Amino acid sequence: MACKLQGTLISCHSRTTKFVDQKDRAASVVPQALLTHQTKLPHFNITYVPSPTPSMDKIPFQTSQTNELPISTSGKFGRFGGKFVPETIVASLTNLEAEFKKSMADDAFQAELAEALRDYAGRETPLYHAKRLSEYYKSMNNGKGPDIYLKREDLNHGGSHKMNNALAQAMIAKRMGCKSVVTATGSGQHGLATAAACAKLALECTVFMAAKDIERQYSNVRLMKLLGAQVEAVDGGFRDAASDAFRCWVGDLENKYHLTGSAVGPHPCPSMVREFQSVIGKETRMQALEKWGGKPDVLVACVGTGSNALGLFHEFVGDEDVRLIGVEGGGLGLDSGKHSSTLTKGEVGVYHGTISYLLQDEHGQIIHPHSIAAGMEYPGVGPELSFLKESGRAEFFAATDEEALDAYENLCKLEGIFPSLEAAHALGILDKLAPTLCDGTKVVVNCSGRGDKDAAIVFNRRLLDKQS
Ligand SMILES: Cc1ncc(COP(=O)(O)O)c(C=O)c1O
Repeated sequence: MACKLQGTLISCHSRTTKFVDQKDRAASVVPQALLTHQTKLPHFNITYVPSPTPSMDKIPFQTSQTNELPISTSGKFGRFGGKFVPETIVASLTNLEAEFKKSMADDAFQAELAEALRDYAGRETPLYHAKRLSEYYKSMNNGKGPDIYLKREDLNHGGSHKMNNALAQAMIAKRMGCKSVVTATGSGQHGLATAAACAKLALECTVFMAAKDIERQYSNVRLMKLLGAQVEAVDGGFRDAASDAFRCWVGDLENKYHLTGSAVGPHPCPSMVREFQSVIGKETRMQALEKWGGKPDVLVACVGTGSNALGLFHEFVGDEDVRLIGVEGGGLGLDSGKHSSTLTKGEVGVYHGTISYLLQDEHGQIIHPHSIAAGMEYPGVGPELSFLKESGRAEFFAATDEEALDAYENLCKLEGIFPSLEAAHALGILDKLAPTLCDGTKVVVNCSGRGDKDAAIVFNRRLLDKQS
C-alpha cells in the first residue's frame, strides 16, 4: 500500500513551497519562543541552538571557551521528556548528567573527541550533491525541481551516524571509571559503533539485540563479535532489547555504563545523544554556506527514535526559513496497524523513563511496531522530536516498506550509493515531496547509514516480487 503524505501545497514563495498537514496549517508557523535561544558554541566553530523548549529550566555553565551552554536540568521539552525511573537509579542518572556537563566544559574532553571524530570516525562527512537524483525529479517536471544533497553519515567509520555518539559516550564511561558498557541495538549499527568505540578504549561491551534482528542484520552481529563484544539475544523486538540492556545496567550500577544510542529514555540520555549527534547539522550549515552561500531550504531525515533527525535538525531549529521533515516507518501502510509511525499515529504516554508519543492501544498497552528497517522499529520516539511535532516546528510523514525499497534501489542505480533501509525511508518521501518544491530548492537528506547490511533483504524481496 502506498504511503499517504496527507497534506496540501499551500504556498510557493521564493524557492520553497510549504507542504503541511491539512488539519494543521499552523504547522508552517514557527513559535516565537523557539527563535529566541540562539547562542554560539565555539567547538567546531559553528552556531549552536540549544534545546528549543519555552518552559525549559536552564542552567548556564562554562564551555571550554567563554560561551554558556544552556542545558535543561529537568530534561523537559515542553510537556515531554523527564526522568520516570525508580528512585534507586535517580542518583546514577544525576551522576551521569554531572559527568556529561563536566566533560562538555572540559578542553581535554573536547580535544579528545574532536580528534576521535576526525581521525577515527572520519569526520567531517561530505555534503554530496546528488546530481542524477536531482535530475531524475527535475525530468518529471519540465527540468525544474529541487537540488538534492546527501549528508553522507554512511561514510562514518562503522557505516552510520551512530559512531558520533558512541565514541563520545564511551569516553564518558571511561572518565566515570566504568569498565563495562551495556547497550541495545536494532539494526546493529549502534551495536557496531559501540563495540568499536569500546575496543578502542579498552572497555568490555555487551550488546542486547532481538533474535529476529540478529537474523536479519547478521553482518553487523558478526562484526560486533569480531570487535570483541558479547551479543545477547532477546525475545521480541528492539524495545525488549532496550529493556534488557536497562535491566542489566540497573543490576550493576557501580561498574556498568549504559550507552544509549537512541534519543529516548530518561534525562539526560536524550539530551546527550542529541548533543553528540548535533555535529551533523553544524557541519551541514558550514558546508551549505561553502557550496551555495546560503542555508538549506529543507532538511529531511528518517525517524526511528530521533537521533539522526535531531542531529541534523537541531542546528536549524531557530532558522524559521528552514523546513524540518522527519520520515517515519510507514510499514505496510498507516491503516494496516503494521507500521512504526509513532509521531503520525501515536498518542502521548510514558515509556522507557520518558514522556513522548507512543504507539499504544486504548488501554495504554504498547502496540508492536513494524518496519522493514530494523532501526525504525520502536514504539516510541524521543521527547525532543515529540516537542518539535507538537509545537509545529517540524513536519512528520511516513514512507512505507515498499517506498523505502524503491528508494534504496533508486539511489543505487542513480548515484552508486547504497543507503541503509532506515535512510531509504528519508529518500522514500522524495517522490511526493520533490514535485511540491520550487526550482532550485536546496534539500538536504540525511543518509544516516550504509546499506550493505540490508542488501540481502532488498535483493530477496525483489526476487520474490519478480516470482509472484
Ligand atoms: C543507519 C540508521 N539510521 C537511522 C536509524 C534510526 O534511529 P534514529 O532515529 O535514532 O536515528 C538507525 C537505527 O538503528 C540506523 O541504524
